[in-house]
Amino acid sequence: MEKLVIQGGRPVHGTVKVSGSKNAALPIIASSLLAAGSHTLHNIPRLRDIGTMVRLMEHIGAEAEWGDSLTIRTNRFSAIEAPYDLVKTMRASVLVLGPLVGQLRRARVSLPGGCAIGARPIDMHLKALEAMGAKIELKEGYVEVFARHLHGADITFNRVTVTGTENIMMAAVLADGTTTIHNAAREPEVVDLADHLVAMGAVVEGAGGDRIVIHGVDELTPKPHTVISDRIEAGTMLMAAGITGGELSIENFPAAMLETLVTRLKDAGMSITVEGNVAHARGGGRPRGINVATAPHPGFATDLQAQFMAYMSIANGTSIITETIFENRFMHVPELMRMGADIAIDGGIAVVKGVASLKGAPVMATDLRASASLVLAGLAAEGTTELRRIYHLDRGYERIEAKLRECGARIERQEDAE
Ligand code: EPZ
Repeated sequence: MEKLVIQGGRPVHGTVKVSGSKNAALPIIASSLLAAGSHTLHNIPRLRDIGTMVRLMEHIGAEAEWGDSLTIRTNRFSAIEAPYDLVKTMRASVLVLGPLVGQLRRARVSLPGGCAIGARPIDMHLKALEAMGAKIELKEGYVEVFARHLHGADITFNRVTVTGTENIMMAAVLADGTTTIHNAAREPEVVDLADHLVAMGAVVEGAGGDRIVIHGVDELTPKPHTVISDRIEAGTMLMAAGITGGELSIENFPAAMLETLVTRLKDAGMSITVEGNVAHARGGGRPRGINVATAPHPGFATDLQAQFMAYMSIANGTSIITETIFENRFMHVPELMRMGADIAIDGGIAVVKGVASLKGAPVMATDLRASASLVLAGLAAEGTTELRRIYHLDRGYERIEAKLRECGARIERQEDAE
């Protein structure tokens, strides 16, 4: 196992380039199952979850080849399933469900169990497929889906689901007739997938709004696609500048997708200006305590909550951070407290009383964004922070410690004996 060793207390200065979005790339890779042929995908980040998705595609029968871009060839299928071994390492494996049912009318996907951030069921994905004519059975931990006739349907999600919206969009593009998704997710990753499906010949209207209408077509044709920038990495970098009192120019910055975060960070006292696709971010002294509540896009992203909490832990004043998307997404709190943060949790609400400074400590990553928050805390803390279980970080951030090191951070990856 590896760990990160961070000598904190140094402002970051320099230029970083944001990688392609993990959460846009995952469904877009899965969507190549919808069209036979060779798919060239650009700006795919090289990270562990993408590796897992590529292995899953290979298991299903696709061939994958990495160069500057990722090429996926989908000329044959040798399996219709997402096996437990892959799903248990990455829930987003369920994203093959929609394309398999759309293309082959059958799928067998291991039911994801709960994970570090919550129970995370997929009941809404399954209910929607049922409404489209699929029969669903649960056998030995797998969901088996079979649709003799996959047809359009009027679907209302009772809460916003990102991968649920993506799965149903992918099933519906090759279904008979029209599917309408009400209360659809409006996340930019949904829009990127819709844009790609449309380029391949699908008819998808309204992505980015809360009502998406899909008219089924007979077949799709592969088309190249360039994945959008990772808004969560970009936001994490903004807060690296903020929490260390440093200054970063962030290239490939997806400003339109980060309006809520940028507003809150400016309220907290950061200076952020955007010119073209570059953001210039500067942190001053301690930020002001700012309240946020996570919400589906365009609200405050749950994937930025942990990092924001690290920043607020050194605020002047108190910040109330409410998590409304996942029931268990405060696993970073006890670790931040080991570094001297003063945080009290009551259900989905964290009350963060800012302290003058954090102190380095050995800490443990529990999930992807929790790891990022501990990296930020370590950069700001006095002394040495050792962050263990960084395989969580490697699932979703491409070269993060190299990027930070290039901006003056003292952060190193070391073998961990434990
Ligand atoms: C996506 O997860 C992202 N993953 C998550 O990114 C992100 O945190 C989340 O959306 C919310 O923005 C990918 O895009 C691959 P949901 P997803 O379905 O789609 C409940 C990261 O760090 N729900 O929108 O799985 C669910 O339990 C991550 O990169 C049901 O009850 O999330 C949650 O409370 C982690 N039944 C809420 O809805 C369902 O059938 C929203 O989850 C589906 C979801």
